[in-house]
Amino acid sequence: MSSSKKKLIAGNWKMNGSLAANEALVKALIAGLQDPACDVAVAVPLLYLAQVQALVAGSSVELAAQDVSAHEAGAYTGEVSAAMLKDFGARYVLVGHSERRQYHGETDAVVAEKTQRALAAGITPIVCVGETLQEREAGQTEVVVKRQLAAVIHVNGHCISEVVVAYEPVWAIGTGRTASPEQAQAVHAVLRAQLAAASEHADRIRLLYGGSMNAANAAQLLAQPDIDGGLVGGASLKAPDFLQIIAAAR
Ligand code: 13P
Repeated sequence: MSSSKKKLIAGNWKMNGSLAANEALVKALIAGLQDPACDVAVAVPLLYLAQVQALVAGSSVELAAQDVSAHEAGAYTGEVSAAMLKDFGARYVLVGHSERRQYHGETDAVVAEKTQRALAAGITPIVCVGETLQEREAGQTEVVVKRQLAAVIHVNGHCISEVVVAYEPVWAIGTGRTASPEQAQAVHAVLRAQLAAASEHADRIRLLYGGSMNAANAAQLLAQPDIDGGLVGGASLKAPDFLQIIAAAR
C-alpha cells in the first residue's frame, strides 16, 4: 500500500553546528550519497540556512528549517516567517517538535497555525507528535497522538496529504531508548487510520519515526509497513551514521 512513495530521511541538527562543522558535515554527506533511494533533508539552525542552502545546491540533499513563526509578518521580534524560510530555499520545516512544545509552550493550536503558515508559503511541514513517558505509562499514547494530529488535520484550504507527520515518542528522544519496531508500527498504524478517515490520500502521506534512530536500528524500523522514513537527531550529526540510515531506507 505504501510502497509507491519514496521514504524521507530528515536530519534534525537541533542547536548544533558552526560554519566549519556544517561545511565538513554537508560535504561528507554529499560525497557519500550515491543516488539515494529515498529523499534526504537536513533541518539546520536558522542562522545557517543560507550557508547550507549554498552547500547543498545541485545535490540531492534538501533544506529544512526547525521552526517557523505562527504569524505572517510584522512586529514579532525574534521570529522568522514561512516566506523568509522559502526565500532561503527551505523545502520542509519541522513544526511542533516536542522540544518546542515542552520548552516554548507550543500548544496544538499554535502548531496548527504554524502548519498553515508553512503550507501557505509552499513549504512542507513535518508535524511532530508523540507522547511523554508518563503519558505512555498511563496508557494515554493513542489519545495524545490522535489529539495532536487532529489539530492539523483540517488546516484551512489544504489537504492533509500535503504534510509529513513524524511520530517521536518523547521518551525515546536523545535517550538511546528507541521504540521497538513493533511499538512504533503500532502508533503509526493508529495515525494512518486517523489520516485515512480524513483523506482518501492517506497512504500517500509520509509517516516518519524519530527517537534514537541510528545506524544499527534504522533498517528494522524502516521495514515496518507504516514507517515511511526517519527524523534523526544525534545520528544526523555524524555523516557515516546518517549515510547508513539513508542506505537503509529503500
Ligand atoms: P535523537 O535521534 O537524538 O533521539 O533525536 C530525535 C529527534 O528529536 C529528531 O527530531
